Amino acid sequence: MSRAFVTGGCGFVGRHLLRRLFTLEADVWCIDNLSTGLHPDQWLTEATGREELPGGLIRYTLPTSSLTFIAGDALAFFLGQLAIIPRGDAPLLPAFDRVFHLASVVGGRKKIDGDPMEVAIDLGIDSIFFLWATRNRASIKKILYASSSAAYPVHLQSTDGHVALEENAIDFPNGKIGMPDMTYGWSKLTGEYLSFVAAKHYGMSVACVRPFSGYGEDQDLTYPVPAIAYRAARGDSPITVWGTGEQGRDFVHIEDCITALILAIDRISDGRGVNIGTGKLTNFKELASLFVSIAGYDAEVKPQIGMPVGVASRYSNPSEMETLLGWKPEISIEEGMSRVLAGARARLAAGVTLED
Ligand SMILES: NC(=O)c1ccc[n+]([C@@H]2O[C@H](COP(=O)([O-])OP(=O)(O)OC[C@H]3O[C@@H](n4cnc5c(N)ncnc54)[C@H](O)[C@@H]3O)[C@@H](O)[C@H]2O)c1
Repeated sequence: MSRAFVTGGCGFVGRHLLRRLFTLEADVWCIDNLSTGLHPDQWLTEATGREELPGGLIRYTLPTSSLTFIAGDALAFFLGQLAIIPRGDAPLLPAFDRVFHLASVVGGRKKIDGDPMEVAIDLGIDSIFFLWATRNRASIKKILYASSSAAYPVHLQSTDGHVALEENAIDFPNGKIGMPDMTYGWSKLTGEYLSFVAAKHYGMSVACVRPFSGYGEDQDLTYPVPAIAYRAARGDSPITVWGTGEQGRDFVHIEDCITALILAIDRISDGRGVNIGTGKLTNFKELASLFVSIAGYDAEVKPQIGMPVGVASRYSNPSEMETLLGWKPEISIEEGMSRVLAGARARLAAGVTLED
């Protein structure tokens, strides 16, 4: 049985990743401070056993795997593991075959644009994570760093100058980088640089992934895809989108993202970053119209000027991803958004409300 460690494993991507690792019969460890993540007690319904261990650990038994959960802040935890601050009763970690570093302050546009210093703590989390990893490299086989398409230069994503983003727009060996998207993009770009250094200077096996707009039925309603789906599930007419709605993204379903994460950690070792995207640009007006059509009614799409919207057009060139991973996304936008609409209907029926 292989052993994996996932930081931020109780978030949107993390929960899907943990579930996939359970199917791969991995013994999984996870740390999450539950700032946006959900406690495993709330979602790990398939657990057949639950045991509280010394050091505040909770071990869940699953049919062919297990989850050891550490509720805590990753920054403080790794500082403690490094003995930079007192360790307290922090657990000793075993050796890991795969470490997936997802923990970060993310949020939708309101947080990225509205409170950039809150997001900048990611620089601290990532630097201490990589310090811990390089100091413990003898007991870590492979690392995956969750970067983002937000690490790409924003001038390549403008109204007049947008291009399908290619991996080589970030090229540390040749000194090629550009202004990324706010403090969130800076932390991801810096995390990629730390990945590059961990691979080159410390000989570690590291992969970076740059997911575009990952979405899914259980994503938080502060993100645009589930929020627009919720409005369509409610039958809103007109249906609103933030900004003009002309801004476009490359939407990739979370289950495809997870497949790509697992392929990337196994196939990339030199710290490079790979896109996770479909290569298709869809704007928010088109997205809202798609939801309305799947919901089976007609509605005008109404812009909400003044709301934060981010860059004009962000989409991938998927060629390098297809070559490196030998794979491309399998869930079409129609199929994926149908699942999100079904999820939105279930939320509506359960009385979940949307902060419009
Ligand atoms: N969802 C996407 O489409 C997408 C796209 C690009 C990149 N990513 C990256 O994937 C990763 C996961 O994103 P997500 O969408 O699941 O976000 P999320 O907010 O749902 O998950 C992040 C998780 O990290 C945890 N966390 C935050 N700060 C922490 C800390 N100091 N210590 C321990 N845990 C902490 C949160 O509680 C949460 O569970 C992030 O690194 C993000 O930048 C996601």
